[in-house]
Amino acid sequence: MIKVLLIDDEEMIRKRLKDLLEMEGYQVLTAENGIIGLDTVEKENPEIVILDIKMPGMDGIEVLGRIKGQLAQAEVIMITGHGGTEHAIAALKKGAFDYITKPISYDELIISINRALEKQQHVQKEIKLIADLKESSEANSQKANALEKALLELKKTQAMLIQAGKMNALGQLAAGVAHELNQPLTTIKGNAQIILEDLKAADSSKEGLETIVSQTQRMIKIIQNLKTFSRMTAFDFKDMSINECIDASLLLFQSQLKNHNIQVDLDMFHNLPFICGDFNQLQQVFTNLIVNARDAMEELPKGDPRILRIKTSVIKDDEGKDDVVEVVFQDSGPGIPQEIRSEIFNPFFTTKGVGKGTGLGLSISHGIIQDHAGTIELMNHQDKGAAFRMTFPVLGTQKSRLAGQP
Ligand SMILES: Nc1ncnc2c1ncn2[C@@H]1O[C@H](COP(=O)(O)OP(=O)(O)OP(=O)(O)O)[C@@H](O)[C@H]1O
Ligand SMILES: [Mg+2]
Repeated sequence: MIKVLLIDDEEMIRKRLKDLLEMEGYQVLTAENGIIGLDTVEKENPEIVILDIKMPGMDGIEVLGRIKGQLAQAEVIMITGHGGTEHAIAALKKGAFDYITKPISYDELIISINRALEKQQHVQKEIKLIADLKESSEANSQKANALEKALLELKKTQAMLIQAGKMNALGQLAAGVAHELNQPLTTIKGNAQIILEDLKAADSSKEGLETIVSQTQRMIKIIQNLKTFSRMTAFDFKDMSINECIDASLLLFQSQLKNHNIQVDLDMFHNLPFICGDFNQLQQVFTNLIVNARDAMEELPKGDPRILRIKTSVIKDDEGKDDVVEVVFQDSGPGIPQEIRSEIFNPFFTTKGVGKGTGLGLSISHGIIQDHAGTIELMNHQDKGAAFRMTFPVLGTQKSRLAGQP
């Protein structure tokens, strides 16, 4: 029920208006002065206040000011004495909804109350509309966020596609450049070595020449990497044993691993079935994994265990049909941080210092393994360190026949 509060010091008026308004169906509260009136506004939060301007003590204008200051919902209708227009204007300026002059016309009062209630409904609708708008703009902004995310994904995919295209072009370019540079570099290195041999031990040019030799050697190595990267070297597929290939790779690094205090734990499957592969190419893969593990464990504090665990086994392929050889290389290094896990197979991605890594090792390995119809992935595991898992189809299976005929 709609609450109307009457604030008037004249008891007669209060009583008459109360009867009238109650007949109209309102719940009517009364107050004989401003202070009680303000108190009632606070407690009852009426929709309408009918307020006499002229009252002893706190006058109607002040009471009005306080009601509006309380942020109450009430619309205030002032009652002014005859000729009180000035007061009425002051009241309207302070936020009164309307004013009625004495003697009070009941019809006029009821009309005024109805208009005030209408205004209140409008205001409430407006408030609701603003809240709805805010809510829907929040929902929209959620949608916008989702769209933005999708767009970002799209852009990423696009970037990846562009990258793949670039890599292709880069591969061809690299192949051309590598081919052209290989010969002159080998000549430079050879001549520098010959001059070096002729020089006397104390010759001041010796150190410079040694740098030339070591740097050209480095350039030749980069070129070899680029050649492999662009698949310039022909594959030589034969029946071969992965265990033997791993052994051969380890042999090359035996003393180096020992110098670095790296212990190698081998868990090789006996009678591992052969695969169809290029021994030299796979040796390159294993060599890169060994070097990566060595580099990673070099960062460990002194005294921390440095272990490279290599395991081979036979398992079933994903479809549970054919046998595949599984190889795992796991080190006890610092591992690979989540934020770069998706990048390590990218060509030229390296975290190693300038002049240390070319960032081609894993992308070359990935390419070689793919040409063997195999897989390589970084494992998600609980232990410390990084673990790479590879699979190769066993010789004689459908997939290995494909691998042998690239
Ligand atoms: N065992 C590992 N532990 C920690 N990080 C590794 C490991 N293996 C690879 N990474 C990370 O992956 C990056 C890419 O490796 P990748 O072998 O492709 O290139 P590289 O070793 O930096 O350079 P390159 O092999 O060409 O000399 C490395 O720079 C390193 O950040
Ligand atoms: Mg490497």
